[in-house]
Amino acid sequence: MIAAMTAQRVIGTGKGIPWHLPRDQAHFRTYTAGKAMLLGRRTYEEMIGWFATQTPIVLTRDSGRTLEGSPLVVTSVEAAIEAAQHSRASELVVSGGAQIYTAALDYADSLVLTLVDTDVEGSAQFPEFSSSGNWCCSETEWYAADAENAYAMEIQRWERH
Ligand SMILES: NC(=O)c1ccc[n+]([C@@H]2O[C@H](COP(=O)([O-])OP(=O)(O)OC[C@H]3O[C@@H](n4cnc5c(N)ncnc54)[C@H](OP(=O)(O)O)[C@@H]3O)[C@@H](O)[C@H]2O)c1
Repeated sequence: MIAAMTAQRVIGTGKGIPWHLPRDQAHFRTYTAGKAMLLGRRTYEEMIGWFATQTPIVLTRDSGRTLEGSPLVVTSVEAAIEAAQHSRASELVVSGGAQIYTAALDYADSLVLTLVDTDVEGSAQFPEFSSSGNWCCSETEWYAADAENAYAMEIQRWERH
């Protein structure tokens, strides 16, 4: 799973991400390149036009839903995993939003999290994970704020034992 969040686990307002961090956007694009991405229907609709080498798989409860860009549509996380296994993608990257992180957390074996050093209000949150599931932080990289990136950020890699 990949996500960017504040210390309070805020990932979004429900209609977008409440910060502009080109460094994190580049990290997200590089990490997902060539891979399958699992997205909630709402997040997919925010990201239409963004996909280049990434293959979006969209989770919705409406199996008949047609979406702009004609992505593969699934109605369960299990179906998304199966579809990714049948594709040539090296990895299925769960990419949000909040409902999809919650639905997929039990299936995840690694987390790539950007901790953004800001405090904003937002209805969408990443689920609490560190107190359960035997997660261990294996790597961190810290970046200072600069002229293009208004906030400092830390990229954390977590693995399940
Ligand atoms: N900071 C980050 O890293 C990051 C990353 C991604 C998104 N976001 C933010 O997250 C927010 C959106 O999150 P969200 O939670 O509102 O929406 P979401 O998770 O993107 O999508 C929710 C939709 O997914 C479908 N869904 C949810 N659970 C399901 C399940 N168990 N089975 C089948 N379908 C299911 C439903 O679609 P239907 O209504 O079609 O049935 C539901 O309406 C936005 O603010 C976005 O910008 C932040």
